Amino acid sequence: MALEVYDAFGDWKRARQGADPTAHVAFVPTMGALHRGHADLIRRAQQEVGPSGHVVVSIYVNPTQFNDAADFEAYPNTREVDLRMAESAGADAVVFPQPHELYPGGVPQRVPPVDYGGLTALWEAAHRPGHFDGVVAVVRALFRQVEPNRAYFGEKDWQQLAVVSELVRREFPDLTIVPVPTRREEDGLAMSSRNVRLDERERGGASMLHAALKAVAAATETVTEVRRQSSLLEQAGWSVEYLAVVDSVTLDTHWELGRELRAIGAAHFGGVRFIDNVPVPN
Ligand code: PAF
Repeated sequence: MALEVYDAFGDWKRARQGADPTAHVAFVPTMGALHRGHADLIRRAQQEVGPSGHVVVSIYVNPTQFNDAADFEAYPNTREVDLRMAESAGADAVVFPQPHELYPGGVPQRVPPVDYGGLTALWEAAHRPGHFDGVVAVVRALFRQVEPNRAYFGEKDWQQLAVVSELVRREFPDLTIVPVPTRREEDGLAMSSRNVRLDERERGGASMLHAALKAVAAATETVTEVRRQSSLLEQAGWSVEYLAVVDSVTLDTHWELGRELRAIGAAHFGGVRFIDNVPVPN
C-alpha cells in the first residue's frame, strides 16, 4: 500500500472513518529530519501491529520544547526525504499536524510547568529549563489526537522516555510505550537529526562522549571513572554538563541494590550539544 500523507490530523481522521475499529494503531511521533534511528522505530511499530494494524508517523517541530530559539530556527526540514524513509520503513501514514490541532489557543510562549519530581528537575531538565514542559504538552496533545495503542520512543533521549512513561502512567493507562535501542554510527556516535550540522572536526571527535559513557558503565569505581572521563573529555576540548550513573527509572544517583542503572551524559563539543546514554551491566 502506498504511503498516505496528510497535512492535518483532521484529514487523517476523516480518511480513517470506516477503518476497522479493532485494528491497532502504532504511533511514532517525530520532529522530522528522519534518520535510521527513526526507521528502526517505524519498523518495530510495523512488526508489532502486523498487517491489520496502522502505523502513523507525525512530523511536527514543536516550538515549546526548544529552550534555545536558534536551535529551533536551525532545525532541519527534510520533508521529501522523510516521506521516502517513512515509507520504506513501513509506515502507513505520515501526518504533518496543524499547530492549532495541538495548541487550540495558539502556540503559547510558555506551557504549564510539569512536576514529575526528579524526572523533570534533574539532568536535561536542569540544563534545558522548560524543555520537558514543552515535550509533555505536545506529546499529550499528540496522544489525544492519535489515540494510539502503542507509541515508540528512542532510548537515545533516555530522560524523555522516562518523562513520557510517567505521563502515560498518569494520564493514558491503556497506552503502551515501546522503547527502541539507540541506532549508532560505526564509531559509536548516536544518530540524531542534529548530526547533519556537525563540521568535520566536530564529527571526528563526536564519538568521544559515547566512549566515555561506556568506560563509566564498565567501571567498578564509578565516581573515580566519572571524574577521569570528564577530565579526558575536557582535555579534548569538550565542555561537560553532566556525566553520571543513575537509576534507569528515577534518574537518581542514589540507587538500591538490584536496580537497573544507566550511564548518562551531556556535553558540548565545537558548537554542538550532545547527549547520550548506555546501560550499565549488572
Ligand atoms: O523526540 C522527539 O523527536 C520529540 O521530542 C517528540 C517526542 C516528537 C516531541 O516533540
